[in-house]
Amino acid sequence: MKNNEEILALFENYLAQISLPEEPHRLYEPIIYSMSGGGKRIRPALLLLCCDAFGGDVTGALPVAAAIEMFHNFTLLHDDIMDNASVRRGKASVFANWGENVAILSGDAMMIYAYKLLEQAPADKLPRILKIFTDMALQVCEGQQYDMDFETRSKVAVAEYMNMIELKTSVLLAGAASIGAVLGEASEADCRSIYRFAIELGLAFQLQDDMLDSYGTEAELGKKIGGDILEGKKTCLMLHAMSRADEADRETLRHTYCDGSLAEGEKIARVKAVYDKYDVPRTINQQISLRFERALATLDSLEIAPERTEHLRLFARNLVGRKK
Ligand code: IPE
Ligand code: IPE
Ligand code: MG
Ligand code: MG
Ligand code: MG
Repeated sequence: MKNNEEILALFENYLAQISLPEEPHRLYEPIIYSMSGGGKRIRPALLLLCCDAFGGDVTGALPVAAAIEMFHNFTLLHDDIMDNASVRRGKASVFANWGENVAILSGDAMMIYAYKLLEQAPADKLPRILKIFTDMALQVCEGQQYDMDFETRSKVAVAEYMNMIELKTSVLLAGAASIGAVLGEASEADCRSIYRFAIELGLAFQLQDDMLDSYGTEAELGKKIGGDILEGKKTCLMLHAMSRADEADRETLRHTYCDGSLAEGEKIARVKAVYDKYDVPRTINQQISLRFERALATLDSLEIAPERTEHLRLFARNLVGRKK
């Protein structure tokens, strides 16, 4: 069995030999910029680790893993337009560098290219993989729309937020994991368990992403800190703070982001002061741990030998403890 480093090395080698057309330059250059721009590669790693855990052919799974990573990077091109985010992975985001129109079209081309990579999946498994992939892709769009809808809604329940992050983030991890399991010819029950594992892991991952957006460092995270606060996002931090704060603090949470008299740094500091006052980071960290434990517990129910899940457990642990 292969560990995470071996899996990643195989994946990077595979990606490096994909050659995209050179022209039109402004269509393909942003794709190369995005795909080689220092992403963590968690989705392809998860797919390949799952495939390997069930004894599948990792090399044969590489084009499908690349399809997942291409799709993920496509979502980021469009997400940065929607979130008005100018920095990604420590560099200018595609839309900040080339403009919105380029980010839209290069993003579209990446989504199409993802399907092109899927053509290379083992023929007997392609229909099943396509169904998982397409269902997943549509759910990501649903999650992204809820994320934007919530910005302008005064009240969002925690359950609605959890559903939103399951759609925008977890289903992509779960799609990757279950495609990996399908490629490894896992049983139906194990495919379902591995899907649940990645859903829980994805929830922990997005809760952590929300935490890092306010409490990380730009040098480590490669994104501008406080972006969610400035965009008025209903993150888990915001929802928990709203549910605990007194009326004066709720007012701060509601209006600071759109107060034209305040500088960005001041807005971020004010909102974070309320989060800290109500001990919100500690609550979110507890929830991250809870989801992580649930994810691991799901692995216990797999029909394969426990030692075959070792690398997946390590992968999950690294993900939840991340700073970037
Ligand atoms: C960013 O995903 C989008 C989210 C779902 C939070 P990653 O944090 O996996 O992004 P990269 O690919 O490693 O940059
Ligand atoms: C992104 O969520 C989810 C998708 C791109 C589908 P975020 O908007 O929180 O991701 P970041 O923080 O920009 O990476
Ligand atoms: Mg977003
Ligand atoms: Mg974003
Ligand atoms: Mg985020």
